[in-house]
Amino acid sequence: MTKKYLVTSALPYINGVKHLGNLVGSMLPADVYARYLRQKGEEVLYICATDEHGTPAEIAAAEEKMTPREYCDKYHQIQKDIYDGFGIRFDYFGRTSSEQNTVLTQHFCEKLVENGFIEKRMTKQVYSHADGRFLPDRYVEGTCPHCGYEKARGDQCDKCTTLLDPTELIHPRSAISGSEDLEVKESAHLFLLLPKLEKEVTAWIDEKEKEGLWPAQVVSIARKWIKEGLRERGITRDLKWGVPVNYPGLEDKVFYVWFDAPIGYIAATKQWADEDPAHRDYMDWWTESPETKYVEFMAKDNVAFHTIYFPATLMGSGENWKKVDVLKGFNWLNYYGGKFSTSQHRGIFADQALEEFDADYWRYWLMANAPESDDVSFSIESFVATVNKDLNDVLGNFINRVLKMTAKSFGDEVPSGGSFGPEEERLFQELDGLLKNYSEALDKLEFRKALGFLRELWVAGNNYIARTEPWKAVKEDKDRGAVILRTGLNLIRLYAAVSKPVIPGACEKMATALNLSPEEEAWPDKPMKEYLAQLPAGHAIHNIDPLFSKISDERAEELKARYGAGEEGEK
Ligand code: 2FM
Ligand code: ZN
Repeated sequence: MTKKYLVTSALPYINGVKHLGNLVGSMLPADVYARYLRQKGEEVLYICATDEHGTPAEIAAAEEKMTPREYCDKYHQIQKDIYDGFGIRFDYFGRTSSEQNTVLTQHFCEKLVENGFIEKRMTKQVYSHADGRFLPDRYVEGTCPHCGYEKARGDQCDKCTTLLDPTELIHPRSAISGSEDLEVKESAHLFLLLPKLEKEVTAWIDEKEKEGLWPAQVVSIARKWIKEGLRERGITRDLKWGVPVNYPGLEDKVFYVWFDAPIGYIAATKQWADEDPAHRDYMDWWTESPETKYVEFMAKDNVAFHTIYFPATLMGSGENWKKVDVLKGFNWLNYYGGKFSTSQHRGIFADQALEEFDADYWRYWLMANAPESDDVSFSIESFVATVNKDLNDVLGNFINRVLKMTAKSFGDEVPSGGSFGPEEERLFQELDGLLKNYSEALDKLEFRKALGFLRELWVAGNNYIARTEPWKAVKEDKDRGAVILRTGLNLIRLYAAVSKPVIPGACEKMATALNLSPEEEAWPDKPMKEYLAQLPAGHAIHNIDPLFSKISDERAEELKARYGAGEEGEK
C-alpha cells in the first residue's frame, strides 16, 4: 500500500548549536532511515526546519544584541552548514519564520475557531515591573510544583518533563533580570479546547496502538496525557516575535511556539514545493492517504506534542491532513552519566565534533549506541574503543587489505579466473541471513540492533579472508587467489552499499576505489551468490588511503581534557 514516505525529525530550536544528544534523538536516525529508503528506490521526502519562534529565540537574540530576525538568519545558516557537515541529507531544511508558516498557522487558527475548537479567554500572566513586560514561558524561572526542581522554566520542567504554566512556579523570578518583583495581570489569549477533541484523539491513539507502529514508550506517554485529562491550552503569547495572531483584538500578540512549530513541518514542505511549483505539490504529501507513510523522529520530551497537540490541531481543522503513522521516540543521551547542557556547555557540540573527526566516526557511535530502550551515556572512552575496533580494525582493515593484496598480485582491476567453492557458499549463506536481519531491523527502526548486524556483516568478510588466506593462495594457486580477492572486492561493494545510510562519507570513498556507479550502490536486492558475482573481472579499481585512523591514547586524553569529561554534571 505504501507508495511514498514522508520523514520528519523534530525541528531544532534556532538558539545555538546542537549537541550530540540532540542529533541522535532526531535528525541522525531520520537521515539514516531516509537514506536507507532512498537506496531501496523508495520515494522519500525528508523535511526538517529550524524552530525559530518563542522566548528562547528572543532571549538568545537579545544576548547577541541582534533582532530576532537577524539572529535567526545567522543561526539558520550555521545550523544548516553543520548538519550538512554531518551528512544529514534533508530534502528541505526550512524555517518556521517563513511566510508559508505564517499563512498555514493562521489558516489552522481560522479553521479551529470556525469549528469551535479555539476560544478567547481572559488569563493571568506574569508581569515584571523591572523589565516592563509580560514574562511568558521561559522568561520566568522557579521551582517545579511537581518535582521540586529549582531551575524549572515557565513552560516545562526539564527534570520531570511536566508542561507548566508560568503562574504555577514556586518562587518565580524573571529570567531576563532575575527580578522577583512580579505581578500577575490579566491578558486575553486564545485557547485550544483540547477536551472537546479528546474523544477523537483517543480513538486515533487506540487505532495507532492496534497498528503497533508506535513503540510502547510512545503509546504510554500519549496514554498518560489522556488519562490525566486534556486541558484547554493557551496558544498565544504576549511577545513580539512569532506568527501574528489573526483574531480580532489580539493582533498585537503572537502564537505560542509549540502551536506553530509542528505546522512548520507542513510549511517547510510548502517551502520546498514553492521552489519548483511545476513539479511539486505539498498537498501530495500532506493529504491523509494510505499510500503515504508518515514517519516522525524525536526525543521523548516532544512526544506529547506529536501524539496529542499537533494531531488535535490537524483533526480540529476538519480538513483531511496527513497524521503520523510511525513515531520513533528516543530516550536521552547523557554525557558521562550527567546531562548534556547547552547553557553550561557541557558535552560535545556538533560543530566541535566535526572539528575533531569526520562525521562518520560520530554517526557510527551514535547509531550503534542510540538511546532507544533506555537512556545511554556517552563517554570518550567508549567512543574511542568503538572507532578503533569496529571502524578501524574490522571495516577499515578489511578494505585496505583486500585492495592492497589485489593491487600487489593482480594490478588495478578485478582479477579473473577460478570459480566459487565451499568457502564462498558458506559466506553467501551467512551474509544472506545477516542482511535480512539488518534490513528488517532498519525497517522497524531498531537502530542499535541494525548496527549490530551491520558490524556482523563486516566481521563475516574478515572471517572469510582469515579462513581463505588469499596472501597464500595467490602464490600457491593463482586462480583460487583471484576468486578470493574478487569476492573480497565484491564484499567492499556490498559494504559500500549497506553501510551508506550510517557512514556515507566512508562509503563514498569505497565507491571511488571500485568505480561504482550510483546503481551499483543501491540496496542489494539479490541473493549474495549473485550479488557478489556482479563486479566483473576486468572492472577497473584503484587503491585509496585508509578510511579511518585509530585514535591514540594521547589523543583520547586530550579529548577528555578538552571536553570536561568526568566532571560532575547535573543528573
Ligand atoms: O524540543 C525541541 O527542540 C523543539 N524545537 C521541537 C519542535 S518539533 C516540531 F513540532 F516542530
Ligand atoms: Zn518537575
